[in-house]
Amino acid sequence: MILVTGGAGYIGSHTVVELQQQGYEVVIVDDLSNSHSNVIDNIEKITGKKPKFACFNLADNARTAAFFAEHTIEAVIHFAAHKYVGESVREPLRYYYNNFLSTLNILQAMQKHGILHFVFSSSCTVYGQAEVLPVTEQSPVKPAECPYGNTKQVIEEILRDICLADAYFQVISLRYFNPIGAHDSALIGELPLGVPQNLVPYITQTAIGIRDSLQVFGDDYNTNDGTCLRDYIHVVDLAKAHVVALDRLLHGKMGNNYETFNIGTGTPTSVLEIVHAFEKVSNKQLPYTIVGRRQGDVEKVWADTTLANTVLGWKAEKNLEEMMRSAWNWELALKEKINL
Ligand code: NAD
Ligand code: WQD
Repeated sequence: MILVTGGAGYIGSHTVVELQQQGYEVVIVDDLSNSHSNVIDNIEKITGKKPKFACFNLADNARTAAFFAEHTIEAVIHFAAHKYVGESVREPLRYYYNNFLSTLNILQAMQKHGILHFVFSSSCTVYGQAEVLPVTEQSPVKPAECPYGNTKQVIEEILRDICLADAYFQVISLRYFNPIGAHDSALIGELPLGVPQNLVPYITQTAIGIRDSLQVFGDDYNTNDGTCLRDYIHVVDLAKAHVVALDRLLHGKMGNNYETFNIGTGTPTSVLEIVHAFEKVSNKQLPYTIVGRRQGDVEKVWADTTLANTVLGWKAEKNLEEMMRSAWNWELALKEKINL
């Protein structure tokens, strides 16, 4: 049985679908602090199989210990975390408490029960503004810009230390770039909390009429059209990377007991290119205005995916049009549900 923490969330739910479709038995632990229980039913609609689900907060040590005592877990894929950059600046203690305690409680329980395989959701945020692009896994990790980013950096260090101390414990940290889009079924997707901070949900909410206009944060960057460059990746491609990582852990393919992989497409795309790709798939003109830069934004970052492609044996397959079309279909499906 594979434990997927945060499996009711955006990336976790897509990963559970891919795991089940590859024949894995999954148990989800999620406290639904940033997700909805109907995600579990929608996973069942896609795969024909309802994943096991336990609803509790992994920052609760006693509850986490009891869960591990009651289940036979082979490996853990750990998504559960608070993830909003701006919120983490306003509420650092809540972020450190949740992200650290949940991770430490899981690792402690794993150690107690001799569970040796762990996949961690890390982020390209660890690179900050890299001097050399694209970034490889060897690129320097920059001081974190926010408490959220800091939790990713410190948890990577904790995992590395545990792997140094225990040669049998095996970890893959996946550094995600910018996941966007939704499952083709439009049954699962991203459910942003309040006003979206991320570009693509803001675009789809604007197009559907929830927001008036997109603000493009800065067009005076040193890039092709002056707007920031990112490496956007389809969430289903990202989900599949977890299945490949899990296979690598479970089938003794690790080169080292602590490994890190960049998970992106390797292609930089500007904010305006995203806007135009959206306009193309939706046949709508998107109202937007150029405003000042957003504090803390890096100018450009994209992945060198050589290691993921050659060593992990995974490659992103979906293009920008597929990402934007699935994001739009998801927004349309959400609207239909609200109108029912
Ligand atoms: P999400 O908020 O949709 O999913 C996280 C899930 O974890 C939610 O369902 C939430 O209810 C649950 N959760 C949070 N704290 C918990 C706790 N203490 N106990 C139990 N459940 C808890 O976020 P996501 O976008 O799917 O991100 C998943 C992971 O990937 C996170 O670790 C995030 O930091 C990381 N990540 C996300 C992005 C991104 O752009 N979405 C990029 C890089 C890394
Ligand atoms: C993308 C681009 C904005 C909104 C964040 C986190 C990072 C990672 C992924 C978790 C930027 C521009 C955005 C808007 C805009 N998450 N933008 N108008 O900032 O690359 O990364 O999510 O680990 O840690 O920082 O993603 O989607 O917020 O922004 O112009 O209303 O879109 O300036 O250039 P970002 P994003």
